[in-house]
Amino acid sequence: MNYPFSNIGQGLAGGSGIGELMDDLGHALANAGPDLKMLGGGQPAQIPEINSIWQQRLREISESDVESRRMLTTYDPPQGSPNFMKAIAGLLRESFGWDVSEENIALTSGGQTAFFYLFNLLAGEMPDGTKRKILFPLVPEYIGYAAQGLDPEMFRSFRPEIEHTGPNEFKYHIDFENMEVADDVAAICVSRPTNPTGNVLTDGEVKHLSEIAKEKGIPLIIDNAYGAPFPGIIFTEAKPVWDEHIILTLSLSKLGLPGTRTGIVVAPKEIVRAISSMTAITGLANPSIGQQITLPLIRSGEILRLSKEVILPFYRKKSAFAQAAAREIFGNRFPWHMHRSEGALFLWLWFPGLPISSAQLYGRLKARQVLVIPGHHFFFGCDDEDWPHRDECIRVSFAMDEETVRDGLTIIAEEVGNLTQPA
Ligand SMILES: Cc1ncc(COP(=O)(O)O)c(C=O)c1O
Repeated sequence: MNYPFSNIGQGLAGGSGIGELMDDLGHALANAGPDLKMLGGGQPAQIPEINSIWQQRLREISESDVESRRMLTTYDPPQGSPNFMKAIAGLLRESFGWDVSEENIALTSGGQTAFFYLFNLLAGEMPDGTKRKILFPLVPEYIGYAAQGLDPEMFRSFRPEIEHTGPNEFKYHIDFENMEVADDVAAICVSRPTNPTGNVLTDGEVKHLSEIAKEKGIPLIIDNAYGAPFPGIIFTEAKPVWDEHIILTLSLSKLGLPGTRTGIVVAPKEIVRAISSMTAITGLANPSIGQQITLPLIRSGEILRLSKEVILPFYRKKSAFAQAAAREIFGNRFPWHMHRSEGALFLWLWFPGLPISSAQLYGRLKARQVLVIPGHHFFFGCDDEDWPHRDECIRVSFAMDEETVRDGLTIIAEEVGNLTQPA
């Protein structure tokens, strides 16, 4: 039976580039042998010290009648567990001096859901029939946003300026001169650190965006999935910001708890109330497990110590290893650059003049059991089809063990080297 789907149904159920890719990666993973080099996912690393803390917490919870009842046998209010929201607000006040209370906090089922709510709350068709958009000041941006708009024309984005920051290294900057914030822009959105590039927008760029948003009377959404205070995977100096016109999202995923699906929105009170209503309508309440596991660590501030002393050094070392391996393995065999690694879990590699598309390179690498993410998926919301850069990049995760990263980069070098001339 072929039931007709609504417009919204078709948008959500009709598949997406990223959905197909994740499916492809998932099947490749399921059918793979021991030689597979999985550099494609956004999976956080398994950090033994961190995993043992979760196991310890699960033991404590299972032995406590109160805690296990809270975690498993009750619905939280749609906004989130009051104890957890209070603890998060306290942590943000103490860490950064922000004037936030639990009325500024809403939980969601993962950061991904927070963005679905926020984008569709603020943009799309308005009651007066006009249409509003979410503006991404800089692409490449997080692939997970790309198919989230219930209105198909919901996103607008701009290409960045490229600064060459050292041998084989570059950094994207927002091109403020060409970034137009038209009257139909409902909100500005950035991830910081950015997935896929590891870019951390400078404090100056964030200040400038914040001023523009304030002047226009629109929110600035900052996706802090990898940022401070947790998991704190930032290798540079970057000041976290929040204000009455800023919506900041956090997540427990990159701390090592993606399975708990816990997203945290820090926002003006009316946005929090709206998110809470959306949670009630779509899901009644949020998963409690992540909130219950991390509550004492947030209350005591232990989560800050773990972020600073365990998680950050772990990924800093991984990043340094991956960069050194890329330099050694790619050498001068062909033209290449990597984005300056300032945070998150990825190296963003650019092969100027690549004679095939990044999707074709993905296919060739997959045939050799190396899984990466082709870069073109991260350029959405702009019609820059004539910009070759869009098709010359790939994202490589460095969260895996060193041997996998090194072997994967070696095969990437062989495939790209077979296609291009020496640099
Ligand atoms: C930048 C960014 N934002 C949001 C998410 C969503 O994460 P989650 O839904 O697991 O919190 C991810 C996941 O990889 C991400 O990289």
